[in-house]
Amino acid sequence: MSAVHMTPPKPVQRWSAADYAVKGRFVSELARPVLDLLAPREGERILDLGCGDGVLTQEIAARGADVLGADLSEELLAAAAAKGLKVQKVDGHALPFKDEFDAVFTNAALHWMRRPELVIAGVHRALCPRGRFAGECGGHGNVAAIATALRAVGALHGGDPDKVAPWFFPSVAEYRRLLEQGGFAVKTIMLVPRPTPLEIGIGGWLETFGRSFFEQFEEPERAEVFAEVIELLRPALCDADGVWTADHIRLRFAADRLG
Ligand code: BEZ
Repeated sequence: MSAVHMTPPKPVQRWSAADYAVKGRFVSELARPVLDLLAPREGERILDLGCGDGVLTQEIAARGADVLGADLSEELLAAAAAKGLKVQKVDGHALPFKDEFDAVFTNAALHWMRRPELVIAGVHRALCPRGRFAGECGGHGNVAAIATALRAVGALHGGDPDKVAPWFFPSVAEYRRLLEQGGFAVKTIMLVPRPTPLEIGIGGWLETFGRSFFEQFEEPERAEVFAEVIELLRPALCDADGVWTADHIRLRFAADRLG
């Protein structure tokens, strides 16, 4: 592997804990199936990779596991620590753990990490032999309408293509291959379409998850870009009653470390 490949990419998003607590709440509310897939057991050591503000980390702890929340955002980690959780700042591309965890859990975080082979290698190192890796992230086709609208409006305004849709949404075949090449036996892997009605509206979604895209523009252009994206999305994602639905597709998987 070349030196370039070992360099973790720069973070693609800044987070506001206050904003996320309100507008990102649906992310943890919809995570029951992936928590069940993890099936945490009393006394197990579990790493919650990309724990955010720790809502799900807390649920894992409540099931009796000894859980460490890991994230790159100091602001979100502070919110998790305020819930009484053990937390550590880590870059998911360079996990510093070795043979320490019975399971690694992750929800709605892997799609922010654009070098999956580095992430999977770090998870493999972090797990004990036969340890479990269970999680969910955006899968192939996730937020396709939103990403296309960002691309179209971004191009019209001369935006940086790298900031348009800075996410990794793998297909089943791609992620299975990555897991197997990384030393895992895949137990289950599937795409789950999950259209998500947005109480926060599309504006709330874009403000929370599209920050890196909009922040590249200065006002007043930023507000124009924002309004244009919303108008482009309206026919596809807003129904006759004004309810916005995000076109989410989840990739859900569970795999065991081989050896
Ligand atoms: C998602 O959860 O599907 C998602 C979150 C942020 C950006 C894009 C997609």
